[in-house]
Amino acid sequence: MNVFSVVLFIHVLSAMALFIAIALEGALLVRLRSARDREQLQFPIHASRRLGMIYAPAFLGLLLGGIYLASQLGSRAAWIPLALGATLLMAVAGGLITGRRMSQLRKMLTTDADALESLLSSAKSKTLVVSYGFRAGLAVGIVFLMTATPALLTSLLALGTSSVAGILAALGLQRFSLRSRDACNYRSAGTSQVTQRS
Ligand code: HEM
Repeated sequence: MNVFSVVLFIHVLSAMALFIAIALEGALLVRLRSARDREQLQFPIHASRRLGMIYAPAFLGLLLGGIYLASQLGSRAAWIPLALGATLLMAVAGGLITGRRMSQLRKMLTTDADALESLLSSAKSKTLVVSYGFRAGLAVGIVFLMTATPALLTSLLALGTSSVAGILAALGLQRFSLRSRDACNYRSAGTSQVTQRS
């Protein structure tokens, strides 16, 4: 066993941590979007802050480990700078879009000055869903780059396709969950009417 394999192990472990954080963020997003009052908003908004405890070391392991591995490979392949750029883009988009929106929501929740309607519409805005889908898709594209080590055009195509597919999948899942929630509400309303009549 050499230093390269230890760093590769840390790098892959960091990739696993990144996907765990992405899955947890997805679960919190579902709770956030299905909230109906301030109390239900509390948990996802406050818990989202803790995700940084997974995201930060994961990005550190991916970036530092990746740079070391790339320097040891001594390769000038296009996928390496593209992976670096895409990883940085993921971190920046997460901080600037999702991070900023979540801290706005935290402020709105604590100040109590905002009406519930505006708080709920901020929590359910498409921005969070698009940012999530973009980053999750990009992460899958980066894994493709790591494993297939393709040429420039294929790498760009893979990153473009995966990020767009991620956004579309996130928007599609959001619509599907809204439809099934509405169907549940409709069914329970129907049941209560039947119970009232009988
Ligand atoms: C979201 C970010 C990233 C993820 C999910 C990720 C994931 C992975 C995975 C799963 C492997 C193992 C692939 C294998 O052994 O077949 C790997 C290897 C590697 N990664 Fe990354 N990585 C990321 C970012 C980066 C960055 C930013 C760089 C470079 C600047 C990088 C450079 C490398 C290198 C050089 C290898 C070794 C490839 C080889 O041995 O042929 N990675 N990465």
